[in-house]
Amino acid sequence: MTEAEAAEELERLAREIARHNRLYHDQDAPEITDAEYDALVRRNAELERQFPRLVREDSPSKQVGASPSGALAKVRHAVPMLSLDNAFSDEDVADFLGRVRRFLNLPQDEGIALTAEPKIDGLSCSLRYEKGRLVLAATRGDGTTGEDVTANARTIAEIPQSLPPGAPDVFEVRGEVYMSKAAFAALNARQEETGGKIFANPRNAAAGSLRQKDPAVTAARPLCFLAHGWGEVSGLPGGTQAEVVDVIRGWGFPVSDDFRRFADMASLLAHYRGIEAKRADLPFDIDGVVYKVDRLDWQRRLGAIGKAPRWALAHKFPAERAQTTLTAIDIQVGRTGKLTPVARLEPVTVGGVVVTNATLHNKDEIERLGARVGDRVVLQRAGDVIPQIVEVLTRDEDRPPFVFPDHCPQCGSEAVAEEGEVDIRCTGGLICPAQRFERLRHFVSRGALDIEGLGEKTIAEFTALDWLKEPADIFRLHRHRDELIGREGWQAKSVDALLTAIEAKRQPDAARLLFGLGIRHVGIVTARDLMKCFGTLPRLREAAVAAHAGDADALAELTSVSGIGPAVVAALGDFFHEPHNIEAWDDLLAEVQPPEYVVETRQSPVTGKTLVFTGSLETLSRDEAKAQAEALGAKVAGSVSAKTDLVIAGPGAGSKLKKAAELGVEVIDEAAWNALVAAAG
Ligand code: IVH
Repeated sequence: MTEAEAAEELERLAREIARHNRLYHDQDAPEITDAEYDALVRRNAELERQFPRLVREDSPSKQVGASPSGALAKVRHAVPMLSLDNAFSDEDVADFLGRVRRFLNLPQDEGIALTAEPKIDGLSCSLRYEKGRLVLAATRGDGTTGEDVTANARTIAEIPQSLPPGAPDVFEVRGEVYMSKAAFAALNARQEETGGKIFANPRNAAAGSLRQKDPAVTAARPLCFLAHGWGEVSGLPGGTQAEVVDVIRGWGFPVSDDFRRFADMASLLAHYRGIEAKRADLPFDIDGVVYKVDRLDWQRRLGAIGKAPRWALAHKFPAERAQTTLTAIDIQVGRTGKLTPVARLEPVTVGGVVVTNATLHNKDEIERLGARVGDRVVLQRAGDVIPQIVEVLTRDEDRPPFVFPDHCPQCGSEAVAEEGEVDIRCTGGLICPAQRFERLRHFVSRGALDIEGLGEKTIAEFTALDWLKEPADIFRLHRHRDELIGREGWQAKSVDALLTAIEAKRQPDAARLLFGLGIRHVGIVTARDLMKCFGTLPRLREAAVAAHAGDADALAELTSVSGIGPAVVAALGDFFHEPHNIEAWDDLLAEVQPPEYVVETRQSPVTGKTLVFTGSLETLSRDEAKAQAEALGAKVAGSVSAKTDLVIAGPGAGSKLKKAAELGVEVIDEAAWNALVAAAG
């Protein structure tokens, strides 16, 4: 771009943004979405960065406070906001305790005290106090980054504005913002009268009320708060969950009346049953009971795996059930080509929600249930999970059994099951419109590249025009600018807003980009773990290709990433084996340049090094040792090779120790390892 072009665009942006500010603030009549507005502001900032000489007197970037973007600002959590693993039975709870015991290497007779409290169906919120004053309230978002809702949270009466003297300098209280059942019903009644938005359940109502641009709207909604934990803190007023929660309660935060501490599993489960029994009578929705290991030193050692702590568990209540009639079975084609049968049902209310569809998962499930169109079935709905058919009640043998298609209903390609797999998939790849559309939709979705303005409708329009076939095409849409402006529903303004939003993603986060490709088994958590280990996408690809070709070192490197098992390795290998995927990948990486993925880890002598643990460890389990090493930025490998930097050997170490000696790799014992971990803080 030339300087003259940049000057022209900056002038246009200054005018546009000023106009949208007026529309939004003075006239309450915005013409563009918050995301489109943000894209304009970002484009302005980007141009000013490239051409600092061109920053205008009337630049939107200079108007402090004049451009509250409409959208809520994003905030990065100092400590990630995690989610919880679920348990659905007493056995699951026993397994959880077993895992904790093994990880901590505790003797069988050592008790593990747990706290228990209801799992509130609201949205989590982190309240940050500095020097005793509330300075930030943030929603959970994706766990790493949430939205700034400080002004709104200040309007919630149950949230203290300050902490008493003596509280730590920095303290983030975390808990649930929720709406009572009664307030929800009253709100919906009012909304109905005034023609406002009707909320599906109290949780949606709470979320919609907290995530408001105008705090006055939040203030008018009766929101409540229950504290259940904390985030970043400069000091902890106790050594156990129960002690700290007590202090938080003493500071004036509401804490559940059903918060208890138990030393044994029987009384824990009795408490669960007690809460379950009074669930319907509680003034707010709950969907289970949360257990937490009481001792905080144990919590710290247990740490987290993926996005959930090893020291906490959500014991869910059993799903609610209802009966209805199966009216049809449709086949949907997902973005990975999976053919999923969907049951169409006569509408029925389950757990307060009207259900008309249920998943039937796959061909085997239909056969297992023996489901036929016209059957009377039992439907189950558990929390947010898609409703399921659990049982067929009447069986009319006269009705024909369902025949699962052997061709894709979308593109007519053959549909087959991979070896050893139950799922049937369309083999049409990117020629299949269902997959093309779904893949692109996933690619731009919020968890992936998050390109605002490129919604389902737009993708459908562009794929129909053949402008979009693969992700890289998104970054070439600007070639169709003039043509697009002429189309119905598009004006120069909306086209440019979209193109600006796309341009803003030329340096995407590598993990989101990887996740966006929709490789099987590579969810966002796995994508992040992989990027943490490999840093750049080309390095990851090199390892995946080498592992696929049978290179043992590459395989070891991949599987040393925590949470990466054979299924992920195979999926990555398969992905890079398919010529079309490689083409699409190369094409994409010619359009976008993700910066190297940097992870904040504690610096230590082993940061960036590859370690091998061998022999038996006495104070640590293998999992804990591995988690410690990863927290220090080291990689843990399973075997000693030329790439190994350090071996930690316990008693009984054999061939690996020998190999280390041969290769001249440094060897230390467990005590030295513990000292190293302690020294790193
Ligand atoms: S503890 C690291 N306790 O459930 C532990 N969470 O499914 C994080 N929730 O995001 C949460 N009631 O929003 C905890 N008593 C409770 C809770 C609770 C509701 C929510 C919370 C969390 C989600 C995880």
